[in-house]
Amino acid sequence: MNKQTEVFMKPAPQDSNTDNSSAWAEVGQSHPHESAILHVLGEATYTDDIPEAQGTLHAALGMSQKAHARIRSINFDAVRSARGVVAVFTAADIPGTNDCGPIIHDDPILADGLVEYVGQPIFAVIADTHDNARRAVRKVVVDYDELPAILTPQAAHAAKSYVLPPMRLARGDAQRAFETAPHRASGQLYVGGQEQFYLEGQISYAIPKEQNGMLVLCSTQHPTEMQHVVAHALGVHSHNIVVECRRMGGGFGGKESQSALWAAVAAIAAARLKRPVKLRADRDDDMMVTGKRHCFYYDYEVGYDDAGRIVAAKVDMVSRAGFSADLSAPVATRAVCHFDNTYYLSDVEIKASCGKTNTQSNTAFRGFGGPQGAIAIEYIVDEIARNLGRDALDIRKLNFYGRNDEEGRNVTQYGQKIVDNVIHELVAELESTSEYRQRRAAVEAFNAGSPVLKKGLALTPVKFGIAFNVTHFNQAGALVHVYTDGSVLVNHGGTEMGQGINTKVAQVVAHELGIPLELVRVSATDTSKVANTSATAASTGADLNGKAAQDAAHTIRQRLAEFFAKLHGGDAKAVVFAAGAVYLGEHSMAFGDLAQKAYLSRVQLWSDGFYATPGLHWDPKTMTGRPFSYFAYGASVSEVVVDTFTGEWRLLRADALYDAGQSLNPALDIGQVEGAFIQGMGWLTTEELWWNKDGKLMTHAPSTYKIPGISDCPQDFRVKLFKNRNVEDSIHRSKAVGEPPLLLPFSVFFAIRDAVASVGGKRFNPPLNAPATSEAILKSVEAVRAMSRAA
Ligand code: MTE
Ligand code: MOS
Repeated sequence: MNKQTEVFMKPAPQDSNTDNSSAWAEVGQSHPHESAILHVLGEATYTDDIPEAQGTLHAALGMSQKAHARIRSINFDAVRSARGVVAVFTAADIPGTNDCGPIIHDDPILADGLVEYVGQPIFAVIADTHDNARRAVRKVVVDYDELPAILTPQAAHAAKSYVLPPMRLARGDAQRAFETAPHRASGQLYVGGQEQFYLEGQISYAIPKEQNGMLVLCSTQHPTEMQHVVAHALGVHSHNIVVECRRMGGGFGGKESQSALWAAVAAIAAARLKRPVKLRADRDDDMMVTGKRHCFYYDYEVGYDDAGRIVAAKVDMVSRAGFSADLSAPVATRAVCHFDNTYYLSDVEIKASCGKTNTQSNTAFRGFGGPQGAIAIEYIVDEIARNLGRDALDIRKLNFYGRNDEEGRNVTQYGQKIVDNVIHELVAELESTSEYRQRRAAVEAFNAGSPVLKKGLALTPVKFGIAFNVTHFNQAGALVHVYTDGSVLVNHGGTEMGQGINTKVAQVVAHELGIPLELVRVSATDTSKVANTSATAASTGADLNGKAAQDAAHTIRQRLAEFFAKLHGGDAKAVVFAAGAVYLGEHSMAFGDLAQKAYLSRVQLWSDGFYATPGLHWDPKTMTGRPFSYFAYGASVSEVVVDTFTGEWRLLRADALYDAGQSLNPALDIGQVEGAFIQGMGWLTTEELWWNKDGKLMTHAPSTYKIPGISDCPQDFRVKLFKNRNVEDSIHRSKAVGEPPLLLPFSVFFAIRDAVASVGGKRFNPPLNAPATSEAILKSVEAVRAMSRAA
């Protein structure tokens, strides 16, 4: 054995991951995003950048101006005679089914007689240009017969207006435990929704093909579902429809189900006119039509002991589902499964309902109900601490799930045993590196001498379950092609929305084949390449598709190893793939030469791969099971300063520690944590959705809806990955990173609440809903002042 080979020899792999020796690895490296340069140069191709086919037409949607009404009549005369108009389509023109609902079929593509929110699409105008189509839409005359509208989740709850039956999950006897608890508290909380605000709006470009075929270029997280919806709408088979997505300019959950309406309208128009049709949403139209993060309203009761340990917790939460079910049920389920966050709740009762309201149909948004579930218990823990005059961090720690060996305190309310709990160690590390205790003292000292500016500090933890609750979604497929020059093309079922899935999957394949990353290219997601894919969602994209691609690459690797071993008369198991070459004893060969030789000997150089996450089960009736493969953990510390005269505030410093397991790509993961942190901070502070009394969303553009800007990012932002390894056999023992860090900026919200509480000497719980806008903060300050005066 030569020296070089020795370096690459390693002990037999411990798990399904091919361990390519510690001396050479393409996973675990901070490679830049595969499109980073293209993003920066403006050369990355988004759907609207694809050169248009000859004869392409453009569509625009005509929307309801009423929140709830029957349509008596519509007059399209002026629309049809407007400049450039080629056609007007309504529900009656849909050849197949008029539905784009992902689970429950209550979601018309175009409203048929009944409109249920302001912004609901009623018709589509097809014109020669985008501009002409949009101008023509406005010339419609609709005669409405108005019906009463329900606009808020509270009103829906009172009227028992739901999109599906309410859910309940209980363990122990929360009512009895509450009645006998040494201390009790109760209250209400409202947490607003959030617009996804992907930079690239919804868009679909449909190109008719021969024999009822349709190619749909679509910005979507879920090409397979777009394929199904389009097939149903056109009344053709799935094999007639091809959906392709090279990349999205962000999805954030907003393109999981809600890209369907756009895909369907473009395809229907293209099929009817036998011409390519593009439907690109203007930002305002996008915000008026599509659903957002669900806002939640909570009623809670909690019982706790003198030390601050929770003995009973009851919560009744209702979300604003909007006019149709969409993904409201799985979002509510995830809220129920994340109400515990990092805390063991022995006696707990959680009720959740999805209020049917005459507003946009709310949908997935990073965290998918998880943030909405967890923030409620954090609000409760925050109050317990203040009621007992203790630092909230101490109360949090006291209520943590037990360490992994602590029987009795490590089973969730839905019956899953936690075996990977690192929250004790992770929080201890962050408490120390952020100098939490010293800064707490400094904040108190500052506040004592500062009557107007008040500082606040908070440390909040996160535990987030990884997998789709619905077991069968946890599968993925991939195709890997090795060409005879040794270059590799990968196709997998996941979609690229900026999160870096293609980079991670390419790293996995490069690692498996022992070749440098530059030799691997990932092509556009395409329903004609990998079939029956799941949405790239629930943070599982890299977990699932990484494993599937690894499986495919592994098959090819084995074939090549056998071929190389046969060539030299050795053992295939001893063949080492590393640094762009293969080694066996004193023999070695460049990977490209091997591919060429193998081809000439008729060895198959491409393979499919498949993965299904093992060990998952979930019973939606009892709301119990093992829905998650593992948990990702994290924590953050935020320090803010609030101006108690104006309600303005700044985030002075934020420290975040996140458990990405054995990270596939630390640079990408840190980017995900930073992005999610700022996005979550926007949700909890500046981003306010406001509907007027007629149910019209008034915050439908960046002029009225404030997402964080670069100047809102903390000057001192310290993001680190926690040193860990997944106990589950995940792809190279990494953990998902897409959504969980969105919960990290809870610490920003509770730091603001801490600062406001200092106005009343921390004796009162500031009533503070999210988003904590400057206006809301000022109101909270006033409320605390009033409580102080009354006391
Ligand atoms: N990051 C970027 N840059 N853009 C996005 O749209 N979506 C988030 C997250 N990170 C998103 C993102 C959401 S909602 C999810 S579910 C995950 O990425 C999906 O990708 P993954 O499963 O590959 O992590
Ligand atoms: Mo993410 S909300 O699961 O698309």
